[in-house]
Amino acid sequence: MAHPIPAAALDQLFRVARTPNDWADTPVDDETVHALFDLLKWGPTSANSSPARFVWVRSPDGKSRLASLAMEANRPKIMAAPLTVIIGYDMDFPNTMPKLFPARGEMMRQYFSQPGVAEATAMRNGSLQGAYLILAARALGLDCGPMSGFDNAAVDLAFFAGTRIHSNFICCLGHGKPESVFPRNPRLSFEEAGRFA
Ligand SMILES: Cc1cc2nc3c(=O)[nH]c(=O)nc-3n(C[C@H](O)[C@H](O)[C@H](O)COP(=O)(O)O)c2cc1C
Repeated sequence: MAHPIPAAALDQLFRVARTPNDWADTPVDDETVHALFDLLKWGPTSANSSPARFVWVRSPDGKSRLASLAMEANRPKIMAAPLTVIIGYDMDFPNTMPKLFPARGEMMRQYFSQPGVAEATAMRNGSLQGAYLILAARALGLDCGPMSGFDNAAVDLAFFAGTRIHSNFICCLGHGKPESVFPRNPRLSFEEAGRFA
């Protein structure tokens, strides 16, 4: 039976983890990127549909291109971070259902291909996978700087041309400079955010 993980691990994932705005130049190596993917891929998605797609941007040219398509305030963050991942979702994800859900692959392919269902499923589950990425990165000792302040259509053209993949958000990864975090903002209380029914 599973037990709660130690308090120090909960701190690292949630209570102490912060969003940095500047980055040390310590690189994130291939092994760590693969370890990150090999954790996040296990996070649950609707019928295992796994619609998220990832572009790991770390070449000088890739960083410059991505930064040029971001809001002014986000540009230096992308340039300073050793790695920024673009989290996209693939509108062709229904075609992977026979592989990802063999028991009912063709049925799920047809179901998820319906207009409306396809968009909602891709965005919902692609966003979940982006959240799994953040928590997996923190679990591996990396800091995360998620950002939605960029031109999605332009990023799609620059990084996903010729596909039906759309960008959702981007996330700087690496080791943040502790002094670069903004003051911690409050969160809603349990009662403000929800109720029992
Ligand atoms: C989906 C998403 C989009 C965000 N977009 C931006 C952004 O464009 N620029 C930015 O500086 N921070 C952005 N942030 C960072 C948040 O403001 C930050 O993570 C949040 O305030 C929590 O900060 P904390 O972890 O230090 O408590 C984004 C975060 C998320 C999850």
